[in-house]
Amino acid sequence: MPKVLCIDSSSRSATSVTRQLTEAFMARFKSSNPTAEIVHRDLIADGISFVTDASISTLYTPSEQRTPAMAALYEQVSVYADELVAADLIVLGAPMYNFTVPAALKAYIDMIVFPGKTFAYDGGAPVAMLAGQNKKIIVFTASGGNYDELPYKAYDFLEPYLRAIFAFIGITDIEFVKVQGHDQAAVQAETEKAMAKIENLVAQLVAQPVAV
Ligand SMILES: Cc1cc2nc3c(=O)[nH]c(=O)nc-3n(C[C@H](O)[C@H](O)[C@H](O)COP(=O)(O)O)c2cc1C
Repeated sequence: MPKVLCIDSSSRSATSVTRQLTEAFMARFKSSNPTAEIVHRDLIADGISFVTDASISTLYTPSEQRTPAMAALYEQVSVYADELVAADLIVLGAPMYNFTVPAALKAYIDMIVFPGKTFAYDGGAPVAMLAGQNKKIIVFTASGGNYDELPYKAYDFLEPYLRAIFAFIGITDIEFVKVQGHDQAAVQAETEKAMAKIENLVAQLVAQPVAV
Protein backbone atom coordinates (compact mmCIF):
# COMPACT_ATOMS: atom_id res chain seq x y z
CA MET A 1 0.00 0.00 0.00
CA PRO A 2 1.70 3.24 -1.07
CA LYS A 3 2.09 6.00 1.47
CA VAL A 4 1.74 9.44 -0.02
CA LEU A 5 2.67 12.75 1.53
CA CYS A 6 1.16 15.81 -0.17
CA ILE A 7 2.60 19.19 0.81
CA ASP A 8 1.22 22.59 -0.18
CA SER A 9 3.16 25.80 0.36
CA SER A 10 1.38 28.50 -1.64
CA SER A 11 0.11 31.45 0.38
CA ARG A 12 -2.74 31.73 -2.09
CA SER A 13 -5.72 29.44 -1.65
CA ALA A 14 -8.53 29.36 -4.22
CA THR A 15 -6.48 31.04 -6.96
CA SER A 16 -3.28 29.05 -6.40
CA VAL A 17 -2.01 27.21 -9.47
CA THR A 18 0.14 24.77 -7.50
CA ARG A 19 -2.73 23.90 -5.14
CA GLN A 20 -4.95 23.25 -8.16
CA LEU A 21 -2.28 20.86 -9.52
CA THR A 22 -1.56 18.98 -6.28
CA GLU A 23 -5.31 18.62 -5.72
CA ALA A 24 -5.88 17.29 -9.25
CA PHE A 25 -2.96 14.88 -8.93
CA MET A 26 -4.14 13.57 -5.55
CA ALA A 27 -7.72 13.11 -6.78
CA ARG A 28 -6.50 11.21 -9.84
CA PHE A 29 -4.00 9.18 -7.80
CA LYS A 30 -6.59 8.24 -5.17
CA SER A 31 -9.02 6.99 -7.80
CA SER A 32 -6.30 4.62 -9.11
CA ASN A 33 -5.00 3.72 -5.63
CA PRO A 34 -8.01 3.62 -3.32
CA THR A 35 -6.03 1.94 -0.53
CA ALA A 36 -3.19 4.50 -0.51
CA GLU A 37 -2.42 6.06 2.87
CA ILE A 38 -2.42 9.79 2.39
CA VAL A 39 -1.13 12.56 4.62
CA HIS A 40 -1.78 16.16 3.57
CA ARG A 41 0.40 18.94 4.95
CA ASP A 42 -0.69 22.50 4.28
CA LEU A 43 2.27 24.52 5.53
CA ILE A 44 0.32 27.79 5.41
CA ALA A 45 -2.71 26.44 7.32
CA ASP A 46 -0.25 24.87 9.78
CA GLY A 47 1.39 28.27 10.32
CA ILE A 48 4.78 26.56 10.12
CA SER A 49 7.36 28.29 12.30
CA PHE A 50 11.09 28.73 11.90
CA VAL A 51 13.60 26.59 13.74
CA THR A 52 14.43 28.08 17.13
CA ASP A 53 17.41 28.15 19.46
CA ALA A 54 15.68 25.50 21.62
CA SER A 55 14.80 23.21 18.68
CA ILE A 56 18.34 23.33 17.28
CA SER A 57 19.97 22.50 20.62
CA THR A 58 17.46 19.68 21.12
CA LEU A 59 18.32 18.10 17.76
CA TYR A 60 22.01 18.13 18.51
CA THR A 61 21.71 16.82 22.09
CA PRO A 62 22.12 13.03 22.34
CA SER A 63 18.82 11.38 23.42
CA GLU A 64 20.17 10.22 26.79
CA GLN A 65 21.20 13.80 27.65
CA ARG A 66 17.89 15.47 26.73
CA THR A 67 15.91 17.10 29.56
CA PRO A 68 12.16 16.24 29.75
CA ALA A 69 11.41 19.59 28.10
CA MET A 70 13.87 18.78 25.30
CA ALA A 71 12.37 15.31 24.89
CA ALA A 72 8.90 16.83 24.49
CA LEU A 73 10.20 19.39 22.00
CA TYR A 74 12.03 16.64 20.08
CA GLU A 75 8.71 14.79 19.57
CA GLN A 76 7.11 18.02 18.40
CA VAL A 77 9.80 18.95 15.87
CA SER A 78 10.10 15.35 14.58
CA VAL A 79 6.61 15.28 13.08
CA TYR A 80 7.49 16.61 9.62
CA ALA A 81 10.62 14.45 9.25
CA ASP A 82 8.77 11.33 10.44
CA GLU A 83 6.06 11.89 7.82
CA LEU A 84 8.69 12.22 5.12
CA VAL A 85 10.57 9.13 6.28
CA ALA A 86 7.32 7.12 6.16
CA ALA A 87 6.27 8.29 2.67
CA ASP A 88 6.88 6.40 -0.59
CA LEU A 89 5.66 9.23 -2.80
CA ILE A 90 5.92 12.94 -2.00
CA VAL A 91 3.74 15.37 -3.93
CA LEU A 92 5.01 18.90 -3.44
CA GLY A 93 3.35 22.15 -4.42
CA ALA A 94 6.17 24.69 -4.71
CA PRO A 95 5.40 28.11 -6.20
CA MET A 96 8.35 30.28 -7.18
CA TYR A 97 8.71 33.28 -4.86
CA ASN A 98 11.59 35.62 -5.62
CA PHE A 99 13.42 33.04 -7.73
CA THR A 100 13.23 30.26 -5.15
CA VAL A 101 10.85 28.41 -2.82
CA PRO A 102 8.42 30.28 -0.52
CA ALA A 103 9.64 30.95 3.03
CA ALA A 104 7.11 28.43 4.40
CA LEU A 105 8.67 25.68 2.29
CA LYS A 106 12.18 26.73 3.33
CA ALA A 107 11.03 26.54 6.99
CA TYR A 108 9.74 23.03 6.25
CA ILE A 109 13.06 22.02 4.67
CA ASP A 110 14.87 23.29 7.77
CA MET A 111 12.78 20.79 9.76
CA ILE A 112 13.06 17.74 7.48
CA VAL A 113 16.80 17.92 6.97
CA PHE A 114 16.95 16.31 10.34
CA PRO A 115 20.09 14.87 11.97
CA GLY A 116 19.63 11.18 12.72
CA LYS A 117 16.43 10.86 10.69
CA THR A 118 17.22 12.02 7.15
CA PHE A 119 20.97 12.68 7.26
CA ALA A 120 23.95 11.93 9.46
CA TYR A 121 27.69 12.46 9.48
CA ASP A 122 30.04 9.52 9.36
CA GLY A 123 33.68 10.42 9.94
CA GLY A 124 32.95 13.96 8.81
CA ALA A 125 31.23 12.87 5.59
CA PRO A 126 27.48 13.39 5.14
CA VAL A 127 25.30 10.29 4.84
CA ALA A 128 21.98 10.55 2.98
CA MET A 129 19.78 8.41 5.20
CA LEU A 130 16.85 8.14 2.76
CA ALA A 131 18.99 6.78 -0.10
CA GLY A 132 18.03 3.42 -1.62
CA GLN A 133 14.43 3.56 -0.42
CA ASN A 134 12.84 4.18 -3.85
CA LYS A 135 11.19 7.36 -2.71
CA LYS A 136 9.85 9.59 -5.46
CA ILE A 137 8.99 13.28 -5.45
CA ILE A 138 6.71 15.02 -7.90
CA VAL A 139 7.05 18.80 -7.67
CA PHE A 140 4.29 20.99 -9.01
CA THR A 141 5.66 24.44 -9.49
CA ALA A 142 4.32 27.70 -10.92
CA SER A 143 6.02 30.95 -11.87
CA GLY A 144 5.11 34.15 -13.65
CA GLY A 145 8.26 34.02 -15.79
CA ASN A 146 9.73 31.29 -17.97
CA TYR A 147 13.08 29.90 -16.77
CA ASP A 148 13.65 27.19 -19.39
CA GLU A 149 16.43 29.04 -21.19
CA LEU A 150 19.26 31.43 -20.52
CA PRO A 151 19.53 34.20 -19.44
CA TYR A 152 16.47 33.62 -17.14
CA LYS A 153 17.43 30.00 -16.41
CA ALA A 154 20.29 31.37 -14.29
CA TYR A 155 17.70 33.00 -11.98
CA ASP A 156 15.95 29.69 -11.23
CA PHE A 157 17.07 28.86 -7.70
CA LEU A 158 14.00 26.71 -7.12
CA GLU A 159 14.56 23.56 -9.19
CA PRO A 160 18.36 23.27 -8.58
CA TYR A 161 17.82 23.94 -4.86
CA LEU A 162 15.09 21.33 -4.45
CA ARG A 163 17.13 18.76 -6.42
CA ALA A 164 20.22 19.47 -4.29
CA ILE A 165 18.55 19.45 -0.89
CA PHE A 166 16.53 16.29 -1.52
CA ALA A 167 19.63 14.56 -2.97
CA PHE A 168 21.46 15.54 0.22
CA ILE A 169 19.00 13.41 2.23
CA GLY A 170 18.93 10.66 -0.42
CA ILE A 171 15.95 11.34 -2.69
CA THR A 172 17.09 11.70 -6.29
CA ASP A 173 13.99 10.59 -8.19
CA ILE A 174 12.40 14.02 -8.62
CA GLU A 175 10.09 15.03 -11.40
CA PHE A 176 9.02 18.62 -12.06
CA VAL A 177 5.71 19.67 -13.59
CA LYS A 178 5.80 23.40 -14.30
CA VAL A 179 3.24 26.05 -15.12
CA GLN A 180 5.13 29.09 -16.35
CA GLY A 181 3.32 32.21 -17.46
CA HIS A 182 1.85 35.47 -16.37
CA ASP A 183 -1.30 36.29 -18.28
CA GLN A 184 -4.48 34.31 -17.84
CA ALA A 185 -4.43 32.68 -21.28
CA ALA A 186 -0.84 31.44 -20.86
CA VAL A 187 -1.53 30.12 -17.35
CA GLN A 188 -4.64 28.33 -18.60
CA ALA A 189 -2.83 26.73 -21.55
CA GLU A 190 0.10 25.66 -19.34
CA THR A 191 -2.26 24.31 -16.68
CA GLU A 192 -4.03 22.19 -19.30
CA LYS A 193 -0.63 20.75 -20.34
CA ALA A 194 0.18 20.05 -16.69
CA MET A 195 -3.15 18.25 -16.24
CA ALA A 196 -2.29 15.98 -19.20
CA LYS A 197 1.09 15.28 -17.54
CA ILE A 198 -0.79 14.33 -14.36
CA GLU A 199 -2.72 11.70 -16.31
CA ASN A 200 0.58 10.27 -17.65
CA LEU A 201 2.28 10.35 -14.24
CA VAL A 202 -0.57 8.51 -12.55
CA ALA A 203 -0.66 5.94 -15.38
CA GLN A 204 3.12 5.42 -14.95
CA LEU A 205 2.73 5.03 -11.20
CA VAL A 206 -0.01 2.45 -11.71
CA ALA A 207 2.25 0.50 -14.12
CA GLN A 208 5.24 0.85 -11.78
CA PRO A 209 4.01 1.37 -8.20
CA VAL A 210 6.21 3.33 -5.79
CA ALA A 211 5.78 0.87 -2.90
CA VAL A 212 6.21 -2.90 -3.03
C1 LIG B 1 5.71 36.82 -3.14
C2 LIG B 1 5.74 36.40 -4.59
C3 LIG B 1 6.95 36.33 -5.24
C4 LIG B 1 7.02 35.93 -6.58
N1 LIG B 1 8.22 35.85 -7.19
C5 LIG B 1 8.29 35.39 -8.46
C6 LIG B 1 9.55 35.24 -9.10
O1 LIG B 1 10.62 35.46 -8.53
N2 LIG B 1 9.57 34.80 -10.38
C7 LIG B 1 8.42 34.49 -11.06
O2 LIG B 1 8.52 34.09 -12.21
N3 LIG B 1 7.21 34.61 -10.47
C8 LIG B 1 7.12 35.04 -9.19
N4 LIG B 1 5.90 35.17 -8.58
C9 LIG B 1 4.71 34.72 -9.30
C10 LIG B 1 4.29 33.31 -8.83
O3 LIG B 1 5.34 32.38 -8.99
C11 LIG B 1 3.06 32.84 -9.57
O4 LIG B 1 2.00 33.72 -9.25
C12 LIG B 1 2.66 31.42 -9.24
O5 LIG B 1 1.42 31.15 -9.86
C13 LIG B 1 2.56 31.21 -7.74
O6 LIG B 1 2.08 29.90 -7.44
P1 LIG B 1 0.61 29.74 -6.81
O7 LIG B 1 -0.36 30.16 -7.90
O8 LIG B 1 0.46 28.30 -6.50
O9 LIG B 1 0.51 30.61 -5.62
C14 LIG B 1 5.82 35.58 -7.27
C15 LIG B 1 4.59 35.66 -6.59
C16 LIG B 1 4.55 36.07 -5.27
C17 LIG B 1 3.21 36.14 -4.56
